[in-house]
Amino acid sequence: MSQQAETLSVPALDLKAQYLSIRDEIDAVVRGVIESQYFILGPEVSNFEAEAAEYCGSKHAIGCASGSDALLLPLLALGIGPGDEVVTSPYSFFATAGAVWRTGAKPVFVDIEPDTYNIDPALIEAAITPRTKAIIPVHLYGQTADMDLINAIATKHGIAVIEDAAQAIGAAYHGRRAGTLGDAAAFSFYPSKNLGGFGDAGMVTADDPVLAKSVARLRVHGMEPKYHHHEVGFNSRLDALQAAVLRVKLRHLDDWTEGRRSVAARYRNLFVDDGLDRLITLPTERDGHHHVFNQYVVRVSSGDRDDLRAHLAGRKVGSEIYYPIPLHLQVCFASLGHKPGDFPIAEAAANETIALPMYPELTDQALRHVVGSIGEFFENQAILPFERKRNVA
Ligand SMILES: Cc1ncc(COP(=O)(O)O)c(C=O)c1O
Repeated sequence: MSQQAETLSVPALDLKAQYLSIRDEIDAVVRGVIESQYFILGPEVSNFEAEAAEYCGSKHAIGCASGSDALLLPLLALGIGPGDEVVTSPYSFFATAGAVWRTGAKPVFVDIEPDTYNIDPALIEAAITPRTKAIIPVHLYGQTADMDLINAIATKHGIAVIEDAAQAIGAAYHGRRAGTLGDAAAFSFYPSKNLGGFGDAGMVTADDPVLAKSVARLRVHGMEPKYHHHEVGFNSRLDALQAAVLRVKLRHLDDWTEGRRSVAARYRNLFVDDGLDRLITLPTERDGHHHVFNQYVVRVSSGDRDDLRAHLAGRKVGSEIYYPIPLHLQVCFASLGHKPGDFPIAEAAANETIALPMYPELTDQALRHVVGSIGEFFENQAILPFERKRNVA
C-alpha cells in the first residue's frame, strides 16, 4: 500500500465539504433569520414550500418538523387509524412503519425486490384486505419504487398511496419526480439526505387541496384560525432557520445530484475494471428511473459483510448498514407475530448490504482508495481470481 493511500481517510459522509462550498450563501441567510427574529413558520417557510413544490412538480408542499412527521401527517389527514392496515416495506428506516403504528393502524409488510430493495409490486395484492387503507412504497437509497404497478393496485382497491420519498428528492420515474407519484409524499431533510437541513426538518407534498389543507392544519394542533381547534393535531412546525438553509441548498440540489450520479458511475467503472463486480453486487438503475443515490449500497455474501466493514475501517474508509434488522423483526413489533424467514429477500438484504461513502464531493483518489481497499479485502481472502490492475493501493 502506498504512503498516500495509507493516510487517506474517506468518511461515509462529509457534510463539511458541502457547507464550505456554500458557506457565504448560508451564513447570509442564517444572519437574515436572526435579524428578523421570525423563527417559526412565516415567510421563509412559505417561500421554501412554494419553491419545493415547484421543484417536485407538486401543487402543494407543507413543511413540517421531520420526515417521520411527514409520514404521520398524511396518514392522519386521510383518517387512517385503529382497525386499518397499511401495506409497506419491511426494509426501510424505522419511521416508515413507526408512523403507521402511531396512528393505531397495523403495518402489513410485503417483501422487496432483490435488486432495487424496493417493495415488490407483484406481492402487494396478496397482502390487501378489506381493512387496507393505504400503501407506503419507500424509494429506498434514492430510486423510486415501481409506481405504475403500485398505483394500479391502489386504484383497483380504492386505497391511497403515500410515497416515502425521504431519501429520494429529485428522483424521477418516467419523467415525473418523487413527490408527484402518489396521493401524498413524505420527504426528510435530515442532514444526511440529499437536501439536508441543519437539524430535523421534513415536508409533505400533495396535489389534492383538501388533503394539503388538512396536513397543514394538523401540523399546528389542528388549529384554524388561531386558537380554534378542529381536531387534535400536534406541533410539527418547520423552523424558519431550516427553511432558509433549505432554500439555499435547493438551488444547488440538481448539481449535487449530478455529482452523486457521477460518483456512482465512477464506482461502477472502477469495480468493473478490477473484476470486483463478480464478487459484489453493484446498485442497479432501472429503465425509466432517475436514481439520485442518497446511498451507494453494494451487496456481498453474508459471511463477508462484517469482515469487509472491519477491513474498510482499518483502511479509514467509512461504511454503514442500512438496515441491519428488517422492520418485521424489530422487538417493538413483536405483537405482529413475525419470525425470521417471513420476508427472506429483506432479511438477506439486511445481512448482505453495505453502504459505501457517497457524496458529490468525493474525489477520484478517494473513490480509488475505497475500491482498492475492497479489492484488497478479497485478495487477502485469496478469492480474487486475478491480479488487480489499477487500484492496487
Ligand atoms: C426511508 C425513510 N423514511 C423516513 C425517514 C424519517 O425521516 P426523519 O429522520 O427526518 O424523521 C427517513 C430518514 O431518516 C428515511 O430514510
